[in-house]
Amino acid sequence: KDYQFKENKEDALKDLEDLVKKLPWTDPLKVWELNNSLKKKKTKRKKHNLQSAASKEKLNEDGEEEGTDQKDAGKQEDCAQNAAGSGSVSQAGDGKTSEGEAKVLKFRVTCNRAGDKHSFTSNEAARDFGGAVQEHFQWKADMTNFDVEVLLNIHNNEVVVGIALTEESLHRRNITHFGPTTLRSTLAYGMLRLCDPQPTDIIVDPMCGTGAIPIEGATEWPSCYHIAGDNNPQAVKRAANNICSLLKKNENKESSTSLGIPLDIIQWDICNLPLRTGSVDIIVTDMPFGKRIGSKKKNWDLYPACLTEMGRICTPGTGRAALLTQDKKCFAKALSRMGHIWRKGQTVWVNVGGLHAAVYLLKRTWERAEEKRSFW
Ligand SMILES: C[S@@+](CC[C@H](N)C(=O)[O-])C[C@H]1O[C@@H](n2cnc3c(N)ncnc32)[C@H](O)[C@@H]1O
Repeated sequence: KDYQFKENKEDALKDLEDLVKKLPWTDPLKVWELNNSLKKKKTKRKKHNLQSAASKEKLNEDGEEEGTDQKDAGKQEDCAQNAAGSGSVSQAGDGKTSEGEAKVLKFRVTCNRAGDKHSFTSNEAARDFGGAVQEHFQWKADMTNFDVEVLLNIHNNEVVVGIALTEESLHRRNITHFGPTTLRSTLAYGMLRLCDPQPTDIIVDPMCGTGAIPIEGATEWPSCYHIAGDNNPQAVKRAANNICSLLKKNENKESSTSLGIPLDIIQWDICNLPLRTGSVDIIVTDMPFGKRIGSKKKNWDLYPACLTEMGRICTPGTGRAALLTQDKKCFAKALSRMGHIWRKGQTVWVNVGGLHAAVYLLKRTWERAEEKRSFW
């Protein structure tokens, strides 16, 4: 935090190089090694399961045993092949080959940079930081076939150095059907977490698009009930397809209990939600920025209407909301008129595809909400 970048490019990059020697690498590398050994065990277990399923199947073919599900064996083979790929990584993680010789690790550095006050590019930072890592550990640089991926994340004045524990980025997890503004699952997770969901909470995303937020919610907070909707039928269809993919994926899991997922999706208009007043604990949504979806002009009507209706359905006193938008001016104006219903808490600045956006955490006040219809 509060890292001071030098204005001159060479000096700033030299500082990043020097940082390598000062970082506490030992514990993070131990975690990386432990993670690899767990992956290795999982691979072995799956291979073992696959072999026993195959031998059972053989017995079955010979007519000596019944009840082997051929489809299951196929599923496990899929898993074993996936995990087998990571097996080689875990061998490298021991720092030794199977014969016990020391093995030179292969590595790469990936830099993600956001902010307009840096005198260098992410490529330059990755190159120079990477050079220093190579010198420090005597590892071998390999961009494609690496054992260790060092992550250098630079966000304005914050620098985070990490070691990747997964081979793929997690930002698209659980999404198979994408739309024009599909939110990164990682950001969806962060927004939900800001609201601190508790078991049995009812969590609503009233403008869910392809469903990145409720899908992340139902996966990570399965003891809450998630409701999502959108006024665009195409978006609802995509979200429904994403839910189906997730259900299928869960069915294939070894430990699946086939309970389904606590999530419903509906086509609705946020201005008239078919939900009882004060019945919702948490609202998490990604509002139209007015760029790819809607327009800035429409937002001047939409945002106040959204805040009013969200204020109505949310429980007074305990309800909370995390709302993402890049149309900050319009949001601030709408919120200033809703001060009796919503109290502004933390604001988290986020980069959404290069756009400077904000997640506003709001707390529902005790004030009674305006009810437009008698049946509410
Ligand atoms: C920024 S997108 C949400 C993207 C979503 N988080 C995702 O991962 O795909 C905003 C969504 O608001 C929806 N929307 C706009 N006006 C709406 C309204 N009046 N009622 C319900 N949804 C609306 C749009 O159809 C769009 O899908």
